[in-house]
Amino acid sequence: MTTKAFVIGHPIAHSRSPLIHGSWLEAHGIDGSYEAIDVAPSALPAFFDRLRGGEFAGGNVTIPHKEAVFALCDAVDALAGRIGAVNTLVVEDGRVRGTNTDYLGFLGNLDAGAPGWAEGLDAALVLGAGGAARAVIVALQSRDIPVILLNRTRGTADRLAGELGGEITVGTLDDANDAAPRAGLVVNTTAVGMHGTRFEGFDLARLRPGTLVTDIVYTPLETPLLAEARARGLRTVDGLGMLLHQAVPGFEAWFGTRPAVTAALRRRLEESL
Ligand code: ATR
Repeated sequence: MTTKAFVIGHPIAHSRSPLIHGSWLEAHGIDGSYEAIDVAPSALPAFFDRLRGGEFAGGNVTIPHKEAVFALCDAVDALAGRIGAVNTLVVEDGRVRGTNTDYLGFLGNLDAGAPGWAEGLDAALVLGAGGAARAVIVALQSRDIPVILLNRTRGTADRLAGELGGEITVGTLDDANDAAPRAGLVVNTTAVGMHGTRFEGFDLARLRPGTLVTDIVYTPLETPLLAEARARGLRTVDGLGMLLHQAVPGFEAWFGTRPAVTAALRRRLEESL
């Protein structure tokens, strides 16, 4: 019988997940399918009833459902609970388990793009305090890395730090230049970088040589932040790998094979941007 998986969102047409999972199904010769399904927020409970019926092995959840599915799952992993969002569902014996693989995607991308990046890392500078920042901070804390969290709106960062706990120093984006020399890793989790936008006033000359700069924005693939970091001789990792690596655990759970993030798959994805 064909094993079926999905990505739900609203709208869903833009999702690149079918390309990723479709490529892996083909590469591994698996009798499976992965389809994009548009599910309006009001239709989520009915979709979960359908899931419990066993039609699908599981699937991905994207905007705007990542928080709402929480209450509908029969069980949610501890780390998804900490992140406050579910992006992956696994159906077993009529029960729907929710998990979050974004933080694994973040780590997998850096592990592949900058091997050894976490060794001796004294602190990470995280720009932004939204949903994406939560997954990034949980990821960094899972490797015991102290976080300097800077956000345009100070109160949002304070709340996030309070909720997550652990070693997090909070400030605003105006503090970036002061904090820069203390961090061996810079992560942009904001939408700044899309459409060629940049952080005004953040002087990358303040970063130490060898600092790794990464961006979760991948349109464009090389954001102004990454371009400037590269021009300064700093190490950079772009955000596309996070999208690829977050998909690995889901595919393995549904189809029983751990897929590889290959250069060829990355190229296919780049061509689709
Ligand atoms: P996501 O789930 O993708 O992280 P989000 O929850 O809306 O999206 O979070 C957006 C983040 O980007 C926030 O940290 C936001 O800062 P504020 O809390 O001050 O709103 C940040 N952000 C968005 N646009 C920005 C801009 N032009 N300059 C600086 N930060 C920006």
